[in-house]
Amino acid sequence: MKHTRIIDLLNNTKTLQEVTVKGWVRTFRNNQFIALNDGSTIHNIQCVVDFENTPEETLKRITTSAAICVKGTLVESQGAGQKVEVQVSKIEILGDSDAEKYPIQLRNRPSLEFLREQAHLRVRTNVFGAVMRVRSVLSFAVHKYFQEKGFYYVNTPIITGSDAEGAGEMFQVSALPFDNTPRTEDGKVDYKEDFFGKQTNLTVSGQLEAETYAMALGQVYTFGPTFRAENSNTSRHLAEFWMIEPEVAFNDLAANMDLAEDFIQYVIRYAVENCADDLKFLEGRLLEEEKQKPQAERSEMALLEKLNFVLENNFKRVSYTEAIDILKNSKPNKNKKFQYLIEEWGADLQSEHERFLVEKHFKCPVILFDYPAKIKAFYMRLNDGTEPGRETVRAMDILFPGIGEIVGGSQREERLDVLIEKMHALGIEEEELWWYLDTRRFGTAVHSGFGLGFERLVLFVTGMTNIRDVIPFPRTPQNAEF
Ligand code: 4AD
Ligand code: MG
Repeated sequence: MKHTRIIDLLNNTKTLQEVTVKGWVRTFRNNQFIALNDGSTIHNIQCVVDFENTPEETLKRITTSAAICVKGTLVESQGAGQKVEVQVSKIEILGDSDAEKYPIQLRNRPSLEFLREQAHLRVRTNVFGAVMRVRSVLSFAVHKYFQEKGFYYVNTPIITGSDAEGAGEMFQVSALPFDNTPRTEDGKVDYKEDFFGKQTNLTVSGQLEAETYAMALGQVYTFGPTFRAENSNTSRHLAEFWMIEPEVAFNDLAANMDLAEDFIQYVIRYAVENCADDLKFLEGRLLEEEKQKPQAERSEMALLEKLNFVLENNFKRVSYTEAIDILKNSKPNKNKKFQYLIEEWGADLQSEHERFLVEKHFKCPVILFDYPAKIKAFYMRLNDGTEPGRETVRAMDILFPGIGEIVGGSQREERLDVLIEKMHALGIEEEELWWYLDTRRFGTAVHSGFGLGFERLVLFVTGMTNIRDVIPFPRTPQNAEF
């Protein structure tokens, strides 16, 4: 007999039916009550075992995380806590789980840190089951949004020969031997001998390639893994993360902001509407976690309230220059509470500043735009008519409460001469990006795009606080287990 998923049993199966359920045991109480979970929902189904007529041998094997198959009758539950339960007529142990050795003792409330070391099993816990289901729904929503809007999905390469962000935080890809590396006459590594005949790396962003596609297909998006060898061991950085990068021909910066805001609200709304049970559970988890914190550090809103707030309020659009004025005159700056004090226009914003703006000053998501050219990437559109020494580019960053930067984007420099001049100033070789420059040579046009860090979105929606807990197998400095 085919088995039924627990979510379907709980939602719409008529009682007094014979059912088969398969899953992993969460708990087994009083030699009688199995809480069984199959991953389809946060909820378990209670299976009531007729222990008097079940061999002792079998009962002993109903242990935490054992895989079992249960046949029985779905009946209205006598107990509180669930509407229906399965009266077991036959139980089969599919895979034993040694209770002594099973690493996750739910009774001891294992910490998230501990569970990270058990990433292959942590998804059997309520928290990680919920997070990973929400993650899956969000990624579907990403595709749904863009497909409904007529965007084309482009798969940009993972191995590239260029540094899209010009930040030099790249993992090299090479098939050369480490011990006997071929060298040129001047002692440098001879990449001509390497697999691709040149130096290559894992991509930090699919943007440059996406731009070339936008300049032919009009509206495109990427959604794939990106890699950064930045040594930032923070709760917001991964060495391997997933990024969504839409790119649109003929969009200026204002249209880019509209797109980003509409997109983010759409995917959050989709999760709120389609992950009600998981989000309710995660809201409860967050409340518990926050009880450990001092009052001042607790969030003012519960998870769902916070999500609805983002859906119901426009993001505040603020220029970099305005933001610097606010920060300069802010209490933490005057009282020297910021680690990096804001002294003058041109300063790069640190996450402490971003969080002050979002969490303390505006108390809503903020889009900062028109940043100093000096602190942004080479491809951003130089603003017309800015003072020499105070040049700004048409950049935008979206800042979220509790997260900081969630989106980085810009209108792109579409003028060939200006772009080349900028590249020269930054020491970027024209030859390396000849194909990128071709889009400016042949039919150039205003265009814009942005990148959204998918894990930061999942963090926000699930209320988790460490980015390592929202990706199945996190890659961070000194850690590539599993
Ligand atoms: O601001 P970034 O570096 O922008 C770009 O890569 C552009 N090429 C995007 C574009 O315009 N198409 O990165 C974009 C976003 C950040 O706002 C952040 O959400 C996320 O990617 N991000 C990271 N997420 C996790 N771990 C890291 N190490 C991240 N670095 C960036
Ligand atoms: Mg950025």
